[in-house]
Amino acid sequence: MTVYAKGVVFEGVDFDNPNHWRLEEYVKRGGYAALKKILNEKITQDEIIAEMKTSALRGRGGAGFPTGLKWSFMPRNFPGQKYLVCNTDEGEPGTFKDLDIIVSNPHALIEGMIIGGYAMGITVGYNYIHGEVFEAYERFEEALEEARAAGFLGDNILGTDFCFQLHAHHGYGAYICGEETALLESLEGKKGQPRFKPPFPASYGLYGKPTTINNTETFASVPYIIREGGQKFLELGKPNNGGTKLFSVSGHVNRPGNYEIPLGTPFSELLEMCGGMRGGKKLKAVIPGGSSAPVLPADIMMQCTMDYDSIAKAGSMLGSGAVIVMDETVCMVSALERLSYFYHEESCGQCTPCREGTGWLYRIVHRIAHGEGRPEDLDLLASIGDNIAGRTICALGDAAVFPVRGMLKHFRSEFEYMIEHKTRQFAALS
Ligand SMILES: Cc1cc2nc3c(=O)[nH]c(=O)nc-3n(C[C@H](O)[C@H](O)[C@H](O)COP(=O)(O)O)c2cc1C
Repeated sequence: MTVYAKGVVFEGVDFDNPNHWRLEEYVKRGGYAALKKILNEKITQDEIIAEMKTSALRGRGGAGFPTGLKWSFMPRNFPGQKYLVCNTDEGEPGTFKDLDIIVSNPHALIEGMIIGGYAMGITVGYNYIHGEVFEAYERFEEALEEARAAGFLGDNILGTDFCFQLHAHHGYGAYICGEETALLESLEGKKGQPRFKPPFPASYGLYGKPTTINNTETFASVPYIIREGGQKFLELGKPNNGGTKLFSVSGHVNRPGNYEIPLGTPFSELLEMCGGMRGGKKLKAVIPGGSSAPVLPADIMMQCTMDYDSIAKAGSMLGSGAVIVMDETVCMVSALERLSYFYHEESCGQCTPCREGTGWLYRIVHRIAHGEGRPEDLDLLASIGDNIAGRTICALGDAAVFPVRGMLKHFRSEFEYMIEHKTRQFAALS
């Protein structure tokens, strides 16, 4: 699925070689050198965390929280077991990069987690993998076996007294299980529902013990940072937006796929890399960071660079880096109907505003899309959204509201047209 890799996660991967994911190939392209470096040179935990902070790596799971800062929250001298958890749930529609990592370069993730374990004094880790993907899970298990057999993982790593056990966990397959505390509940064998925060996982995580959770791509970026230095990683991107990032591009482009490019790359360049718009059609809009990110119209998007700050300034979110491209033929009422249905289906039902509100949003958009909209519906959508966002235990409620707000802000006239004329301006999505 990776069609263009010019970044740290897929650095040097020869996708034409069927063994590109194996340990031997990973080592040939510099793999496990970072782990050897910290063990041979006895680099301290503080030094690693400082390097992570310098890199300005921001969590690739959606929120963009600085990874070095998160790692510094882990209580170093806690007397009991602590845990490191990787989030490979990847349920956000449009996102398909993490799966690509565990299939095509699993050792980058494994090495990143081992380094994370070392830096935070953690000896046990889990990788929670989305429940609907079987081959990727098996591939990751095979890579774990290779790492154990080579002495990179397990007891007394590379002859030192550092031990780190890493296990794969086949998850459930629900969107909510990607939310970090729902993931922990699911990992404990319970129903995947988010926990109240605080306490945050750093103090009360898996089995009630201090836990650090990061996204797959976040961990897979760590070996490069430790091998080459945080400053070099930072300079690949732009200030406050260090490094390269994977963008899963889908929709109306000629070459959809994963593109690993420097943060700060103009969107127009990314679009060009994707072979431009399919069928030579005009760009209408882009959802720049996964289905929960507010949509941006073409003229705004063409002015943006692909990084957290630029997209936030334009009124959306870089999120997980899933770029959904829509051409001039797309009916926005139809697009929002589909998005709203997803959040209605995936709400875990724990919080009333989300459980009831996501269904209400969907039913209103559905009736507009079927020519039964009422003039007051658009204000009603906005008001329901205001009563969901920020009033739930986790951010799924916000995720359901942001697409509605984005559509009403930029494409309100399409909704008004449909309510008034009882017919679409553009054909429904097939
Ligand atoms: C409803 C919901 C779904 C989420 N799904 C994912 C997911 O599939 N993968 C992921 O890494 N983060 C997901 N997140 C974000 C995680 O809660 C968490 O912030 C992230 O795993 C932290 O890793 P990072 O700091 O490396 O980004 C989700 C959040 C919410 C609210």
